[in-house]
Amino acid sequence: MADKDGLKVAKDYRVEVPFANQGDFHVKGSNHLDWGMKKHLSNIFDPKSGNTVMFAFDHGYFMGSTAGLERLDLLIPQLLPHVDVLMGTRGALRTCVSPDCRKAIALRTSSGSSMLNDDLSHEVIAVDIEDAIRMNADCMAVQTFVGADGQLSSLDNLSRSINAGLRYSIPTMGVIAVGKQMERTDRFFKLATRLVAELGANIIKTYYCENFEEVVSACPVPIVVAGGKKLPEDEALTLAYRSISEGARGLDMGRNIFQSEHPAAMAEAIRKIVHEGFNDREAYEFYQDACHR
Ligand code: 5RP
Repeated sequence: MADKDGLKVAKDYRVEVPFANQGDFHVKGSNHLDWGMKKHLSNIFDPKSGNTVMFAFDHGYFMGSTAGLERLDLLIPQLLPHVDVLMGTRGALRTCVSPDCRKAIALRTSSGSSMLNDDLSHEVIAVDIEDAIRMNADCMAVQTFVGADGQLSSLDNLSRSINAGLRYSIPTMGVIAVGKQMERTDRFFKLATRLVAELGANIIKTYYCENFEEVVSACPVPIVVAGGKKLPEDEALTLAYRSISEGARGLDMGRNIFQSEHPAAMAEAIRKIVHEGFNDREAYEFYQDACHR
């Protein structure tokens, strides 16, 4: 292992220079993957915009019934026209989502913690690769706790998922969790996103932060930004706009959609930013109009 003393701080991110190994495939860092991987990634990332709108409703895997997600069977059909990817657990997907929905699936495969524990960082891989194949998952989502108590087991989970995914051409999405000891700084996110990409994750879900363009620049696979706690709609749309304009290839929002008074209008407004080049002000105006439809 390299001696940590005297390490220079990374600073030359060249944010203005596009990723140099893109070839003709639209998903960052995936040009050399095989047909099956590329097919799944193209189901997730629109080949035209290169971006994606994911809807995260996997909260039940550690929170149980959550405000806004009480009736997945009623909520999800309202949102389907506006999202590209459904991110959920196999229990929610198999019971509440029609298999003819034609949306990409980000299957939550790690689990093992609950809100009743103080420490959420110890998880296992709960879904076999065979079930991901049966469900035609387009990626497997694995929680990673870099710098937290459960780091070793979560990176083991991630690596197992990547190894199995490579055998059957199913991408893995590393979901960066912020442990209790960690702060939401660009220093942390640069370390965590790069570490997870170097382990072989094909997509990284993380949070927006200061110097986000540098986080994106140093990460050789696409980043999608998590929503986090519920914000007023205009602020959530500003978060979405900043993320996309600073290099994220998508949003994976949960509470900022399903806890909005108008979840479908919110998802549609986010879509305008992600795929149609709207800025946050235009998207908020669109949201307000859509609420009155
Ligand atoms: C948990 C997750 C959830 O999917 C995530 O929290 C997304 O939901 P929200 O936008 O409500 O934070 O990845 O780690």
